[in-house]
Amino acid sequence: MHPFALILFVELRYNLPMQRKIVRFPNPVLKKKAKSVKRVTPEIVTLIYDMIETMHTAPGVGLAAPQVGVSLRVIVADIGQGPIALVNPKILKKGGKQAFMEGCLSLPGVEAPVTRASKVIVQGMDNSGKINKIEAEGLLATVLQHEIDHLDGKVFIDRVEDPSTIKHMAFEAEKKEELI
Ligand code: NI
Repeated sequence: MHPFALILFVELRYNLPMQRKIVRFPNPVLKKKAKSVKRVTPEIVTLIYDMIETMHTAPGVGLAAPQVGVSLRVIVADIGQGPIALVNPKILKKGGKQAFMEGCLSLPGVEAPVTRASKVIVQGMDNSGKINKIEAEGLLATVLQHEIDHLDGKVFIDRVEDPSTIKHMAFEAEKKEELI
C-alpha cells in the first residue's frame, strides 16, 4: 500500500461519524441552558456529524446537542431535503401560527400538538464557521423552534397548552394490557 493511502485510510476511519447515546427526559442536561460555541473547532465538526448520524439512525427530523449529553448550542435538522447544522442558532424573525403533532427523541412514545410560529428566519454558523441565514416555514420552522428550545432547557411538553392533549403511547399500551 502506498503510504499516503494508509494516511487517508486512517483519516477516514478517524472521521467516520459515530452514533451517540440519546439522553432521555428528565435528564438534567435537558433542563439546562446550553453554552454558546466560541469557535467551530474540529471537535464541534465531529459533534455535528455524529449528531446527524444519530438523528438519521433514530430516525428523527431534528436533534439538539443537549440530547446527546453535550450542553452546547448546536442543532441539526433534516426533513428529507438534506441535513442542516446550525451553531449558536438565533431566531431573527418569526411570524404566523401553526400547530404540529410533535414528538421528541428524548421522550419516546410521547406526542402532543404544539402551536408555534409558522415562519422563522434563523441565523447561525454552519460547520465551516460561516454565518448562515435560514428562512423556514411549515415543518422545518417547527423543527428549528423545537431544537432551539432544547438549547434553552425546554422540551415540547412545556409548550403544550392543554395537558390533556398529551398522548403517551407506552402508557396507553400498558393500560390496554391491564384491561386485557
Ligand atoms: Ni426534541
